[in-house]
Amino acid sequence: MEIDKPQNIEGIAKLDEAEAGTSAAGKRLRVDPTVDGKAAPWVEKYRPKTLDDVAAHKDIIDTIRRLTRENRLPHLLLYGPPGTGKTSTILAVARQIYGKALQNMTLELNASDERGIDVVRQQIQDFASTRSVYSNTFKLVILDECDAMTKDAQFALRRVIEKYTRNTRFCLICNYVIKIIPALQSRCTRFRFPPLDPEHVRLRLEHVVEQEGVKMGPGGVDALITLGAGDMRRSLNILQSAHMAFDAVDGDAVYLCTGSPMPRDIEAVVNWLLNEDFNEAFQRILQLQVDKGIALVDIVRELHPWLFNIQALGPPHVRVALCEKLADIEYRLAYGTSERLQLGSLVAAFSLARDEIVAAAE
Ligand SMILES: Nc1ncnc2c1ncn2[C@@H]1O[C@H](COP(=O)(O)OP(=O)(O)OP(=O)(O)O)[C@@H](O)[C@H]1O
Ligand SMILES: [Mg+2]
Repeated sequence: MEIDKPQNIEGIAKLDEAEAGTSAAGKRLRVDPTVDGKAAPWVEKYRPKTLDDVAAHKDIIDTIRRLTRENRLPHLLLYGPPGTGKTSTILAVARQIYGKALQNMTLELNASDERGIDVVRQQIQDFASTRSVYSNTFKLVILDECDAMTKDAQFALRRVIEKYTRNTRFCLICNYVIKIIPALQSRCTRFRFPPLDPEHVRLRLEHVVEQEGVKMGPGGVDALITLGAGDMRRSLNILQSAHMAFDAVDGDAVYLCTGSPMPRDIEAVVNWLLNEDFNEAFQRILQLQVDKGIALVDIVRELHPWLFNIQALGPPHVRVALCEKLADIEYRLAYGTSERLQLGSLVAAFSLARDEIVAAAE
C-alpha cells in the first residue's frame, strides 16, 4: 500500500511534471529557464527523452530495453566517464516503465543530497519498504554519483538492496567503479558507458545545430568533437558558448572559446622544441602562452598525441623517454607547481631528446 509522500526529487519531479503539465509545480516548471526557452542550457534541452534518443551504446541500450520490456530489470550499475549518457539512460528507462507515475515510483538521490549512512537507512528504506497501489511493478531507486557515497553508507546499502529486492530495483551510477565496494558491485549488473565515438557525437551535434539554427564554419564540428573527447555534455556546452560568442562557429571560434591551444599553435611549439635552441624555444613558448592565454598543462596534453606522429624522433627509446617526461610534467602541474619551471623542464626534455637523436644518427 502506498503510504509515503511522493519523493520530490529534483530532475524526476521536473521531468514528470513538465510533461504532465497539470500540477502547480508543473506549470511553474514550464517556464523554468533551465529546462526550456532560449536561455536553457542545451545539455538539458537536448537530454535524451527516450532510449531511442540516446546516441551510441547500442548494445547496452538494446539489453536494457529488452530487460525492461520483459519486466526483468536487475539492479544496475552504470559507470563511465562524464557526459556519456548514464543519467539520461536511466531517466529514459524510468519514463518508459512508469510513464506518468514516474514521480511516485522513482527516488533519485545524487551527490548534492545528504547521503550518509542515515539517509541510506531512512530515506531509501522509507521509499523502498512501501508497495505501490498503482501498479505491481517494482519501484526504482537511482543513486547517482554514488562513488561519492561514504563506505559506511555503501555497506548499509548492501543489506537494503537485499531486503527490498522483491519490490525495488536499484540503479547505481558513478564515474569511478573502483570506488564502489565489491559487495555492491556483485549485486548489480554492470554496464560501462565508454566515451562516445566521434561519429555519434557528430550526428547529435548536427541535430542540435539544425534545431537551434547555429551558423557553423569550417572545422567547427571537428573541433567540437576533438575538444569534447567523447563527452557529449562538454561538446554541447562548448557549442552553445561559441554560438553565443561568435557569429559563426568555426574551428578557431571553438578553440578561442575554450582557451585551448589551436592545432597550429601546437605545431609551432613542436617546431620550436625540435629546431630552436633552448633559450629561444623557452621564450617563444612563454610568449605564445602570454599572447593567447594558454596554460602549460594544455600544451603538454596536446603535445602528447604529436609524439606518436612525429617521424623524426629517431630510436624508440627517445619517444619513450619523452612520453614519460610529459607525464611527469603533467603530474607536477596538476599539483600546482611553477609553470615557468615546468616549461623549462619541457624544453629540457626535448633538448635531451635531440642530443639522443643526433648521437643515434652518428
Ligand atoms: N549518449 C548520449 N546521447 C545523447 N546525448 C547525450 C548522451 N550522453 C550525454 N548526452 C548529453 O549530455 C548531457 C549529460 O548527459 P548525462 O547527464 O546523461 O551524462 P552522465 O553520463 O550522467 O554524466 P556524469 O557522469 O557527469 O553524471 C545530456 O543532457 C545530453 O544532452
Ligand atoms: Mg550523471
